[in-house]
Amino acid sequence: MELMIFETPAAVADEGARRIRHLLHARPDAVLGLATGSTPLTMYERLVRDCRQKRISFAAVTTFNLDEYVGLDGDHPQSYRHYMNEHFFSKIDIDLANTHLPVAAAGANPLRIGAEYETKIAAAGGIDLQVLGIGRNGHIGFNEPTSSLGSRTRVKTLTRETLASNRRFFPAHGKQAELAITMGIATIMEARKVLLLATGEEKAAAVEQLIEGPVSAMWPATTLQYHGNVTVLLDAAAASRLKNRDYYDWVQQQQQKLVQQFDAD
Ligand code: GLP
Repeated sequence: MELMIFETPAAVADEGARRIRHLLHARPDAVLGLATGSTPLTMYERLVRDCRQKRISFAAVTTFNLDEYVGLDGDHPQSYRHYMNEHFFSKIDIDLANTHLPVAAAGANPLRIGAEYETKIAAAGGIDLQVLGIGRNGHIGFNEPTSSLGSRTRVKTLTRETLASNRRFFPAHGKQAELAITMGIATIMEARKVLLLATGEEKAAAVEQLIEGPVSAMWPATTLQYHGNVTVLLDAAAASRLKNRDYYDWVQQQQQKLVQQFDAD
């Protein structure tokens, strides 16, 4: 697991955007796995800027989002489709037909969507780079604690903690979606590369488990310890509970030296 710790959330966003630019320069038709939540917003802003400045293009890119609330269709303001369109897709040169979320709109059978979504991901050739945030309880996507480490895209019931933490996105008296469809942990593990961003002190306990804890379904993100190509970008607050911080900083310095010497790209 490659770990980079920055002072600020802005620096995390800069590095995340740099990684995605790098991938798109090498592979303009990359398949990106995308995440919602507040964490990746600044990174998306950076990518919008890069696209407007013609430093990158998403014209040939395909995307698959991690998750979506059950029963919300794309024009619902709390749907993740709406979030993605508003914050990212409408501002870049992507073809909306190439953007995918596991949508089970009102009335559709959510139990069927998971397998269909997996088929679409496979037909696109799999995910080159999966962007992840992390929940306070260590969830990735909406794979809540006790999710099977071998799970595929399916319906998940959200924990009360996740509902409380996402309550802020729903209107004060509006009904909040309680079910979601999420890529499974095994689905995420099949991405060729994973880029996880975490900022803020409220993520520090989950980050501690992710980096230094034992692999456990109680902290689903810990499964990433088995993935061979994960980069974790943290700000100082999210890294504040790590016990071996000195060592990680030292590794980062050594890595930078190697890159400067052998791989300036
Ligand atoms: C949400 C999403 C996750 C996200 C996480 C953290 O509920 N389903 O994909 O990573 O919780 O969100 P935030 O970045 O707002 O803290």
